[in-house]
Amino acid sequence: MKFTPIRLKLIKPSQKRDFDIYILEETKPVLLLSKDKPFDKDNPALKYNSNFIAYIPISQLKEYKKYICKNIDDILKDPLMSKKNKMYAIYISLIDNLENLVNNRDLNIARDISKNISLFIANAINDEKAMAIFLSFIKSDVHNLAVHMFNVGIYASMLTKKMFTDLSTQKLEEISKGYFLHDIGMLKIDPEILLKKGKYSKEEYEEIKKHTIYGVEIIRNDLKIRSPIIERIILEHHERKDGSGYPYGKTDINIFAKICSICDIFDAITSKREYKDENPKTTFEALKDNIDFFVSEFGKDIYENFVKCFSVVI
Ligand SMILES: [Fe+2]
Ligand SMILES: [Fe+2]
Repeated sequence: MKFTPIRLKLIKPSQKRDFDIYILEETKPVLLLSKDKPFDKDNPALKYNSNFIAYIPISQLKEYKKYICKNIDDILKDPLMSKKNKMYAIYISLIDNLENLVNNRDLNIARDISKNISLFIANAINDEKAMAIFLSFIKSDVHNLAVHMFNVGIYASMLTKKMFTDLSTQKLEEISKGYFLHDIGMLKIDPEILLKKGKYSKEEYEEIKKHTIYGVEIIRNDLKIRSPIIERIILEHHERKDGSGYPYGKTDINIFAKICSICDIFDAITSKREYKDENPKTTFEALKDNIDFFVSEFGKDIYENFVKCFSVVI
């Protein structure tokens, strides 16, 4: 059995769990609390100080994530919970939404995502420490569609907040939803093309390009969302100002689509992709090596504010 560490402090003693909790004793996993045992004062867990590391079998990771999603409101309300753990709970909820959306192609989950985006905006976007914690959750070694949409969602929301300080919370939530769902149209692409390793044929690439148009169709027809801003983010995030982009070769590109675009490119160059041999670039390298392209394509204002976003981690 393989194990993964968990944050035990996120587990409320009174709540029902569907996962077993283990502890390592001299490198051997020992069952501490099986899922049917409540986490109360007679429990052996109290023998250990609160800083011990708890583990769960990897096979029960789904249940652990479900538990956090279900109890997120209580976790965020808890005055004794650390900021790190609260942000971790929002991160797990958001990434779980996106993974379910991508893996099950279940559009109902796209509705749940609104609640978690609201929590992210309410608890993190105005707080530099919280945003530094969020940036630390961005992984460069694992890369799939869900992780990519999460990363772009974080970067682009942060950049939008930096550039448009007066945006209402409601507007920022709407725009952020566009960022977190910017590639939702990929769900209409044949999985064989989407998961292909190696180069696309010309026909396959033409199909991939349609994810922008498919995305707008999903937002409008399946999710019944009426938002011109979300539609423009999804439709225009691969357009280029000289008309060389897709799907229409537009030159008049919406500012929020441009913000999505710089974050999309940045995430691609700072993440490990299976088909790329070279290592991903660090944040610093990606910003420095692409300065000319970023400034000429997106303008000095967007580039400089994007650089400033990373000052929270320095
Ligand atoms: Fe895209
Ligand atoms: Fe993307």
